[in-house]
Amino acid sequence: MPAPERSAAGDGDGETGAGGRSGPSVWEDVALSDGTTVLVRSVEPRDAEELAAGYQLLSDTSAYQRFFAILPRLSPQQLRFFTQVDHHDHEALGAVAPETGQGVGIARFIRSDTDPTSAELAIAVADDWQRRGVGFQLLRTLLRRAREENVTTISAEVLTDNSALLGLLRHFGPVDTEVSGTTTTATLRLPRTPTSSGGSATGTARRGPRS
Ligand SMILES: CC(C)(COP(=O)(O)OP(=O)(O)OC[C@H]1O[C@@H](n2cnc3c(N)ncnc32)[C@H](O)[C@@H]1OP(=O)(O)O)[C@@H](O)C(=O)NCCC(=O)NCCS
Repeated sequence: MPAPERSAAGDGDGETGAGGRSGPSVWEDVALSDGTTVLVRSVEPRDAEELAAGYQLLSDTSAYQRFFAILPRLSPQQLRFFTQVDHHDHEALGAVAPETGQGVGIARFIRSDTDPTSAELAIAVADDWQRRGVGFQLLRTLLRRAREENVTTISAEVLTDNSALLGLLRHFGPVDTEVSGTTTTATLRLPRTPTSSGGSATGTARRGPRS
């Protein structure tokens, strides 16, 4: 995972957005492919504890796919960075299971320092919730937020064999890939309508990724 000054790996200084500019907040019920509803909402500083707990629930494989390392836990600095976002240059959305309030997924984009129309994507879904459409719904909403913030190109650096993320991205348009050994940079130019399948004005999706 590259480590620019502001990096989706979370190795920035944690000052990206705390107290900074704040974009429109997201709070939307979305339907997964099996009919389960989850809440997709903006990440806030108070989510740090939940994020720390959620990281512990990721399998080693998922953690490695997300961070290119298996960390024993997220550091306080990472937790600050991941939750104190300005919703403009750094947007983060979480998916929450309504019955338990448990965070089941999180996605973010971080605007490039050199090209303000580009941003880096990172996403992780709790293993027990994978393949149910959480990633799709998080990304659908995140891409809408990206366009609202004048981001037109989203890139993710992933392990070359990460077919899950590559497949997920392809739901939203053609993906350019640049392979560099074990890692691949996948780039999606955001279409005029940022979702492949759309969603209602209230945020409730009309169809999941497998429908
Ligand atoms: C990538 C990830 C976020 C996908 O989340 P998810 O909630 O499981 O994805 P969804 O259920 O919404 O699936 C959407 C699409 O993604 C693709 N996909 C998801 N999981 C897949 C898998 N295991 N194998 C192949 N394709 C997969 C498919 O195209 C799927 O659509 P389909 O079901 O119609 O085939 C999840 O696998 C994850 O958290 N992985 C670990 C972290 C990671 O790899 N992050 C990316 C690097 S930052």
